[in-house]
Amino acid sequence: MAFVLDGESEASMNACFAQLAVPTPMIKRGGLAGALRYLGTERSPESIIVDISGADMPASQIHDLAGLCEPGVVVIAIGDRNDVPLYRDLVRAGVTEYIVKPVTAQLLAKALAGIPHSGERAPISRKLGKVVAVVGARGGVGATTLAIHLALHLANQQSRRVMLLDLDLHTGGCALALNLKPTPGLREALANPLRIDSVFLDRTMAVHGERLFVLSAEETLRTEADFTAAAVDTLLGVLRTQFHYIIADIPRIPASPYWQALDTADLRIIVADQTLRSVRDTVRLREGFGAHRAEHSNMLIINRSGEGGRRAMTLEEMARVKLHPNFVIPFRPNQFTALGPLRSGALIDVVSALAGEISGRAAARKPWWRFAA
Ligand SMILES: Nc1ncnc2c1ncn2[C@@H]1O[C@H](COP(=O)(O)OP(=O)(O)O)[C@@H](O)[C@H]1O
Ligand SMILES: [Mg+2]
Repeated sequence: MAFVLDGESEASMNACFAQLAVPTPMIKRGGLAGALRYLGTERSPESIIVDISGADMPASQIHDLAGLCEPGVVVIAIGDRNDVPLYRDLVRAGVTEYIVKPVTAQLLAKALAGIPHSGERAPISRKLGKVVAVVGARGGVGATTLAIHLALHLANQQSRRVMLLDLDLHTGGCALALNLKPTPGLREALANPLRIDSVFLDRTMAVHGERLFVLSAEETLRTEADFTAAAVDTLLGVLRTQFHYIIADIPRIPASPYWQALDTADLRIIVADQTLRSVRDTVRLREGFGAHRAEHSNMLIINRSGEGGRRAMTLEEMARVKLHPNFVIPFRPNQFTALGPLRSGALIDVVSALAGEISGRAAARKPWWRFAA
């Protein structure tokens, strides 16, 4: 897909596409601004050619473009300035190639040929989407609730393309909470990992609002969710090329497919409450995570704090077993009675601060419940 500026470059782009026999070319006017408008509302094409001539701050606009594109997209910039610092800035902002005008079919062919083939394309954001795995130390601590609200926040408040992946195939908890139909295709995908590609996923996933996509199944209890760690790996690999964030709700079942999700996640969040059992299970989960690898970060979130009064372990007692929660969410039963997602309250405050940390965009205000890690 090309975003040109005038009739002349449209004609020459057309000629280039014809000479190169590009299968389904699309040419639009509007240059960088046009591309930003288009990507604000539409799905990203596989590759984008954009004319940056005359743009005030092309590198910063390319940076914005990278934010709107799905992670796997390739961007080629064309412009009228032959200048090395500009070229360097553009590449740093994420373009694969910069062509100085006039664009010829030959130059374009070279730039397009420089793109490795699908699966290993040089993505505009350089990094693929981030996987955030959420796991509860035990049932009922609020892991699913946290995963859903984090996904909603990143999609709606930060305008990211987000996948909420519910690996608990029997409960359909994520679909249910968002009032979506369960996606039976998820089990099929995991059972036949070779079928997992973007077309298959497009057909399978449910959509909530504009940017939140959900894979959450509700298999009958007699159906075995029989899938391998390799299938989880394949699925996450494909999802990383299409979403900025994959929020995975991981059931606490000690089997290799679930460990695979936890082992490949960029961030692992344990949700626990302050019961003795939950604290003990948190310690055990942490042991399961193994040595802290540089590419991972782990977080602990205490939810339902204050429930159970004096029977609960205090934060001081938790510190003695080296558990230092990153966030603490109070027990607020009356806030959880409404159907559908919450809009405000303590959990939402924590979720927005957490999303700020994950995305590097700071939350609006410094919250009172922040604990030093
Ligand atoms: N901070 C909280 N205060 C009160 N109730 C909560 C809180 N967080 C979650 N809940 C409720 O706890 C229940 C279990 O939550 P869920 O997210 O399904 O837990 P999990 O996925 O860990 O089993 C839900 O009914 C949810 O609304
Ligand atoms: Mg759950």
